[in-house]
Amino acid sequence: MRVAVVFSIFLTIRVANTISDKFFPPDFVFGVSTSAYQIEGAWNLSGKGESMLDYLSHTYPNSITDRSNGDIACDSYHKIDEDIEMLKHLGVNFYRFSLSWSRILPTGSIEGGVNLAGVKYYSDMLDKLKAAKIDAMVTLVHFDVPIGFIKEKMFRTEKLNQMFVDYARLAFNLFGDRVKYWLTINEPAGFSKDEMRTFYTDRGRDVYLTAHNIIKCHAAIYHLYNKEFREQQGGKLSIALNTDWYEPASDSKEDIEAAERALMFEFGWIAHPLIYGDYPEIMKKAIASSPSPLRLPVFTYEEKETIKDTVDFIALNHYSSFLTTNDPNKDVDRTFDKDIGILKTLDPSWETTILDWLHVAPSGMRKVLNWINKTYGNKPILITENGYVEGGTLKDDRRINYLQTYLSSVLDAIYIDNINVIGYSTWSLMDNWELYSGYSAKFGLYYVNFTSPNRERIAKDSVGFYKNVLESRHLVNNRNAGNHV
Ligand code: BGC
Repeated sequence: MRVAVVFSIFLTIRVANTISDKFFPPDFVFGVSTSAYQIEGAWNLSGKGESMLDYLSHTYPNSITDRSNGDIACDSYHKIDEDIEMLKHLGVNFYRFSLSWSRILPTGSIEGGVNLAGVKYYSDMLDKLKAAKIDAMVTLVHFDVPIGFIKEKMFRTEKLNQMFVDYARLAFNLFGDRVKYWLTINEPAGFSKDEMRTFYTDRGRDVYLTAHNIIKCHAAIYHLYNKEFREQQGGKLSIALNTDWYEPASDSKEDIEAAERALMFEFGWIAHPLIYGDYPEIMKKAIASSPSPLRLPVFTYEEKETIKDTVDFIALNHYSSFLTTNDPNKDVDRTFDKDIGILKTLDPSWETTILDWLHVAPSGMRKVLNWINKTYGNKPILITENGYVEGGTLKDDRRINYLQTYLSSVLDAIYIDNINVIGYSTWSLMDNWELYSGYSAKFGLYYVNFTSPNRERIAKDSVGFYKNVLESRHLVNNRNAGNHV
């Protein structure tokens, strides 16, 4: 008890000293994020086809901490009006959500037919958002690719690339008049490395093939948007890229290089081709010097010309940090992790959470924004995900602390470092099906009662905090905001 009290005083002082008193710039936009599979439910209703996540959670329940699935999830398919009321209450400028590809195209391809009920669901939702004056940020694919991708070796061949482009064209045609920001795919690095791994036959090679095809799909969709839609629809298009911050654990050359390598493998892997037209040299070199040196696919000259400069802004998902040392045994195997060649440790001052990858290290936000700016030029950066996990509480003071300190770090990047950060979205609007942790890990501003058929939503304390930040555009004196729905 005594320890807890001392800790909380320490926390208060530390927070009070570090929170920026600057105002968010007038055109800075705020949002909240979700994804289709994680919230919608209705997995087999109204004509929806099966997705990879349906298949994964039904076929490999042991890979999910609580053996759960998203069959019902938050039931947002039936509760969209309530979700929009929550968005209105928060006062967000935009809502980031994803389309379920197999709800719109049950087989994944146009030839398999368009599911009108699915189209209506998203179309009505966009109308409601418009009426509420909330901009839409739409992700085309947030992990839940149609089941056909499993049979066809996912993205390891180019066979399905055209299917993705056709789906994008359909989405632009159907919804593009009401969408301000498009994201082609969520976290291609994480998707290629983690979500797909169950389906790989040769992990050390397939991981690179998957990302390679996704990069080409993204570029094809970017050009399609430019050619056929941008003029009338005027949206912005990007791809949501994730990275942690990697801090060298010491001043040694090896550790500094290890940290840079980690950033290049996680972020540069996708960002470099889409901005400069090819994989980072550091990455090429690391794989070329591994026991199996030819695993990274090579872009042709024409492909390089096509893929480069295909993001309108940088969309960043950032949550956590690691201390990084060089792995002396990095050359012994042909896996993605050995290719990066780092060992990760934690700074003891970082608060840990119930997930082993998420630590509260707000300075990492400012550092990663600086690194992106230094490496990729002064492109606008929109933070499309950042958030805190707990095991279930309405008094989520630690989430408030996380949001406040990370947002303060964003203000420092804007005002002290002059980085062009244009917006921020927190993960997530509400508790949802958290991938491999199921319902045991909760990221929501709103609590969802998953044991009740009505899936009631209840505001946590962080709702009041975030709402006040959005209203005041300021971080100080918002901690005990209270008064929420
Ligand atoms: C993913 C989300 C996920 C969140 C928290 C992000 O990497 O885009 O789908 O729920 O992290 O783990």
